[in-house]
Amino acid sequence: MTSTTHSPVHAISVFIVGTGYVGLTSAACLAQLGHTVTAIDIDKAKVEALRAGRVSIVETGLDRLVSDGLDNNRLNFTTDYETIGGADIVLLCLPTPHSSGGGLDLSFIAEAVRRMRSRLSPGTVVVTKSTVPVGTHRLITEWLDRDDVSVASNPEFLREGTAVADFLGPDRVVIGAHDPRAAALVARLYAGIDAPRHTTDTTSAELIKYAANTFLAAKLSFINEMARLCDHIGADIDDVVACLGSDHRIGPDFLSPGPGWGGSCFPKDTRALAHLAATTGVELPVTAGVYDSNQRQLDYVTAEISRLCDRPLAGARIAVWGLAFKAGTNDTRDSPAVEVLHRLLALGASVHTYDPASEAGSGGATAADDPYSACRNADLLVVLTEWPEFADADLEKVADLLTHPAVYDTRSIIDQVAATKAGLTLHRIGRHQAASATA
Ligand code: UGA
Repeated sequence: MTSTTHSPVHAISVFIVGTGYVGLTSAACLAQLGHTVTAIDIDKAKVEALRAGRVSIVETGLDRLVSDGLDNNRLNFTTDYETIGGADIVLLCLPTPHSSGGGLDLSFIAEAVRRMRSRLSPGTVVVTKSTVPVGTHRLITEWLDRDDVSVASNPEFLREGTAVADFLGPDRVVIGAHDPRAAALVARLYAGIDAPRHTTDTTSAELIKYAANTFLAAKLSFINEMARLCDHIGADIDDVVACLGSDHRIGPDFLSPGPGWGGSCFPKDTRALAHLAATTGVELPVTAGVYDSNQRQLDYVTAEISRLCDRPLAGARIAVWGLAFKAGTNDTRDSPAVEVLHRLLALGASVHTYDPASEAGSGGATAADDPYSACRNADLLVVLTEWPEFADADLEKVADLLTHPAVYDTRSIIDQVAATKAGLTLHRIGRHQAASATA
């Protein structure tokens, strides 16, 4: 593995396939870095909207970069593969949904490769950017069947909501390639970015992405397990987290307990890595347990809601604050909030939700226009997403609206003193009631 410092910008012609949050963010940021970028999507309406500068994804700073790129002609959108022959680099940013056999469905990638195959110019480098199963580069090489085109991996580590900042200020740039010329060309994409580069073989680059996401998810599963244990033995998770996080080998990030982790990446990636281990016959018990542990957290939170509600869940009215899988996004895919809500509905509760970025109710829950309407006559308020506006809520108003003045705050964002002052009983994960009362 080698590391190099950044070199001056040399503009490259880049073709990006897919305009989801990875593809569109990469397109807009690479245009911002001085490259000429064409982004292709099969969705005509989406391409028309993007040509007009309309961005449907909630991503800080993305609208401005898209409009800058359109204005200075460094960013174009198309539905047509004809012009791909002019590309030095093709970045694949396509979805790989779950397939029925436990693996991932590569049909979007296969179709894109089929379309570009005869159109690519000699010397082009085809790069996987969005997460693909380990070994996908070998399949793409086979599908391309071109000796004069290289295949490389350049995994992204973008978080939803902060994708632009993550792209332009990454912790590292990982480039996996067997061909040194391809690796050097991909490195030129990031010439304007000051971050360590790691050049590896292609399989390692593909694995690094899964290892990073599974490690982070494992950290969260572990801290959620500690929070459950704290509840049981009367210890305080805040103290445990503070002392764990101050060990520089552990670090303070990604240690906030919650209702479980979710989103479009962690659940899919942790399961894909466990599947890879199973299919290769390598036993990885830690990896295999990461996803299951998270399911236990969702079960636990549901059971706690049932315990804390002063009447049986069947027939109870539960107010839920938060639907998004984390604050700062309107994405509810594989959201722990939605998972818990579905479990409550299945147990016969009526659920009334409020989320600042997501208007839709889910699976029979009703959606309120503001956090207070959701609380009216509810038997319990449950906080499932850590939106800052929940921390600033008028708790006296909340206490007046609830039938029974109790809150289960799974994200630990409600202030204990303010809650007590408002007459609310505040329950949090990993904080024994006695500890809460003396806070
Ligand atoms: C994640 C990774 O963080 C990115 O590096 C990666 O590029 C991306 O997946 C991907 O594979 O594309 P993201 O899905 O946007 O990014 O979400 P995170 O910010 O990592 O949060 C994941 C989940 O963990 C959320 O449900 C969040 O609420 C939860 N979480 C996070 C906690 O419960 N506690 C924490 O302390 C941190």
